[in-house]
Amino acid sequence: MSDTIRFTLDGREVGASPEESIWQVAQRCGTDIPHLCYSPEPGYRADGNCRACMVEIEGERVLAASCIRKPAEGMVVHSASNRAAKARAMVMEMLVADQPAKTDAHDPTSKLWAWADRMGVSESRLPAHSFAEVPAPDPSHPAMRVNLDACIHCNLCVRACREVQVNDVIGMSGRGHTAKITFDFDDPMGRSTCVACGECVQTCPTGALMEARLLNEDGVRVEFEQQTIQSGCPFCGVGCQIDYHVADGEILYADGADGPANQNRLCVKGRFGFDYQSSPERLTVPLIRRDDAPKEPHAKLDPANPYTHFREATWEEALDRAAGGLNEVLKRDGSQALAGFGSAKCSNEEAYLFQKLVRAGFGTNNVDHCTRLCHASSVAALMEAIGTGAVTAPFNAAKDAEVIIVIGANPTENHPVAATFIKNAVKRGKRLYVVDPRRQMLSRHATRHLQFKPGSDVALLNAMIHTIIEEQLYDRQYVAARTHGFEELVEKVRQFSPEEMEAVCGVPADVIREVARDYARSEASIIFWGMGISQHVHGTDNARCLIQLALITGQVGRPGTGLHPLRGQNNVQGASDAGLIPMVYPDYQSVAKQEIRDLFEDFWGTDLDPKAGLTVVEIINAIHEGQIKAMYVLGENPAMSDPDQHHAREALARLDHLVVQDIFLTETAYYADVILPATSYYEKWGTFTNTNRQVQIGEPVVAPPGQARPDWQTVQEIATRMDLDWTYQSPAEVFTEMAQVMPSLKNITWDRVVRERSVTYPCDAPDRPGNEILFAESFPTEDGRARIVPTDLLPPDELPDAAYPMVLTTGRLLEHWHTGAMTRRASVLEDIEPEPTVAMHPRQLRTLGVEAGDMVRVATRRGEIALKARRDRNVPEGMLFIPFCFEEAAANILTNPQLDPFGKIPEFKFCAARIEPAAQPAEAAE
Ligand code: SF4
Ligand code: SF4
Ligand code: FES
Repeated sequence: MSDTIRFTLDGREVGASPEESIWQVAQRCGTDIPHLCYSPEPGYRADGNCRACMVEIEGERVLAASCIRKPAEGMVVHSASNRAAKARAMVMEMLVADQPAKTDAHDPTSKLWAWADRMGVSESRLPAHSFAEVPAPDPSHPAMRVNLDACIHCNLCVRACREVQVNDVIGMSGRGHTAKITFDFDDPMGRSTCVACGECVQTCPTGALMEARLLNEDGVRVEFEQQTIQSGCPFCGVGCQIDYHVADGEILYADGADGPANQNRLCVKGRFGFDYQSSPERLTVPLIRRDDAPKEPHAKLDPANPYTHFREATWEEALDRAAGGLNEVLKRDGSQALAGFGSAKCSNEEAYLFQKLVRAGFGTNNVDHCTRLCHASSVAALMEAIGTGAVTAPFNAAKDAEVIIVIGANPTENHPVAATFIKNAVKRGKRLYVVDPRRQMLSRHATRHLQFKPGSDVALLNAMIHTIIEEQLYDRQYVAARTHGFEELVEKVRQFSPEEMEAVCGVPADVIREVARDYARSEASIIFWGMGISQHVHGTDNARCLIQLALITGQVGRPGTGLHPLRGQNNVQGASDAGLIPMVYPDYQSVAKQEIRDLFEDFWGTDLDPKAGLTVVEIINAIHEGQIKAMYVLGENPAMSDPDQHHAREALARLDHLVVQDIFLTETAYYADVILPATSYYEKWGTFTNTNRQVQIGEPVVAPPGQARPDWQTVQEIATRMDLDWTYQSPAEVFTEMAQVMPSLKNITWDRVVRERSVTYPCDAPDRPGNEILFAESFPTEDGRARIVPTDLLPPDELPDAAYPMVLTTGRLLEHWHTGAMTRRASVLEDIEPEPTVAMHPRQLRTLGVEAGDMVRVATRRGEIALKARRDRNVPEGMLFIPFCFEEAAANILTNPQLDPFGKIPEFKFCAARIEPAAQPAEAAE
């Protein structure tokens, strides 16, 4: 404790750590000191520019800014002396002089006005700025308003943008009286490179930057919350926690809460994407297909008017019809004629109940969900090598790494808050290598971007492994003590020298060697990967290579090291853990192992199918083959998310009976016989597990619309109509049952998750935090060692040729999540990215003879779509990138359904395509 600094604060002796400021010590001791340019939130450094926090220090002539001043041994500080209080009041009066009057304040509840009220300053005796000096209001952004007449130049938004979220858009331009906040090169905010994370709005203490929807046309706040409820974000696997501000049953705005994953940060989706919840297109009553509305494979329904094809029904009638159809097929054709798709957007409890219904009620393991389409190959490789499918370290571990590799992932778009922590780490001097055929925002921060040829992952990664082995950079002790299979790997990678692989992967041999050396030699290296790795016919091999890199160098199990596949949907980790997978029960326990099956048969009180079930794409194929005749789809949208969409939609239309449970009339619901209205994330209790293995509570924020019901209740209603004796009273009861068969939930109870809001698994004791970094000593395999599985070159399934000379790759956009069912109904997100585009290199546009914004036609062997061309220097020549969220030009009409043999994941990231100008020119889409 010799580091503790003892000093006197307001007559009381207190202790401070060397990092603490006087303000922080005072706060900790219960003394509130005014502050405006300082934010105590994580990630903000003190700047000491507003002087609102001045205190008196004995022996010093001038007052000190307590937010930035550190205490010294023996110092005597008076936080509320007459002199300090008067000086602070004068500062406040000067600031108020330059503000619009409180009656016209953009935000009369802002931090500035709250402190002014507490200090008794309601107006100023000092002259105000002349109007000419004040920048005009900027209404250019769909989500945020800029009213710089309220700006006090505190610089917090600049730090928010540059240092916390590291987007580098906001700056301060000019000097003295001409100083002002600017976006890029003094552009209107809406035309700048702003990514709308809203961090600046959350931190601005005056209302100069605010959510547009709270203001009237004069820029005055007219919407105020009645309550604030903390819950989570429904979009990606980062698992941000959010404070939702609610009035009259409606979400008004969202602020980042201090969850372990996000530490107050949000991205555009979490902050501005919530209003899909109140979309007029929400399903509010159960629906049954009309007798005069046969299923057409390529029908396009209007989600705002389901009554062209469906009629309203009571819950009783709809549930009876839904379960009746399933029972009929079960009786007539047997268990293997049934299948279910659950969802990675549902809670852990809903996922568990759904797979239990399919296994115990349908009598089959034909249950899967969209993990099959994103990280199934990563999970297959991880399970094979280290006996678990989850990450070995959280993404926040980037701060402890020396070298960070991001491969086949675009986190600034797909996991934006995770990306901020990677950028923070780079700012602190860590080395970042981005490895991807497409360049991206993160490349600007990277030590190097390795732009390898699409589909040549194994060549590049094996060449890195070759270098590490050839140059003896591997960790002998670790390899000997912790792995099997190293000798086979040595043999295999002999043929993969960087010099030979250069021609295959397009990365110069010396660069491959340099990155391999840096990764192996660094004190701590961590790898993040995404669907660029997994969505290939060689996706499992790609992931195997990454695992080998970590294993042979011992870069796992210590702070700053590890393997982290960035999980896609908000609960894809949890849904997989809960058993929404055809070959395993909850916690990845194999359905094929007799002793495990015995356990579950005993626990669920029924016989279970001993055979692994079919996966997502296999189920679609089995419908075509006439095996699967009826399905229950809960929150999944295979008509949009599956490859070769015409094939998938034709399958859905062929089903004898389809039950869809969802919040919107999705493209899959077009083919339903019965539609059951579900609750959105914001309307229910449940636990959700993010990419970091953090089990987090989701709490209802608003009421469900109309007759929509929580999914767990509806699944139970179907189950009881299929002779299952279920009497669950709450999600808490379901969680308690799950914990009995899921070792990963040991020491984690529902009450604990509600109380702590987030608990990481695995967890050693009920009163201890979970383990963030895993496998320091051993792996959860039979003998505790990891298994190395060498890999060979396997080309993509469909290579470009004369007829289809381009490579098509697909993915997500920052603003739109997955199939767009939610984000395309979120007004701000749709405003920013309203239409489908195909991105390509500027030289490609020239070769094609089109301008950005012109209509083009993209075709593959499975179909064609027309959409606007977009100029994007990040896309290499010869490649096209199309997001898969736009129904009007659905990318998955084009994609190749060929599967990775282990993960059974389709090759979304690579197929041969052709592009040509289309007849209709249109306006610019840049
Ligand atoms: S806009 Fe707000 S946060 Fe930015 S400098 Fe002005 S007052 Fe501070
Ligand atoms: S989409 Fe992901 S990164 Fe963005 S706020 Fe939600 S959880 Fe966080
Ligand atoms: S809050 Fe300390 S100087 Fe502004």
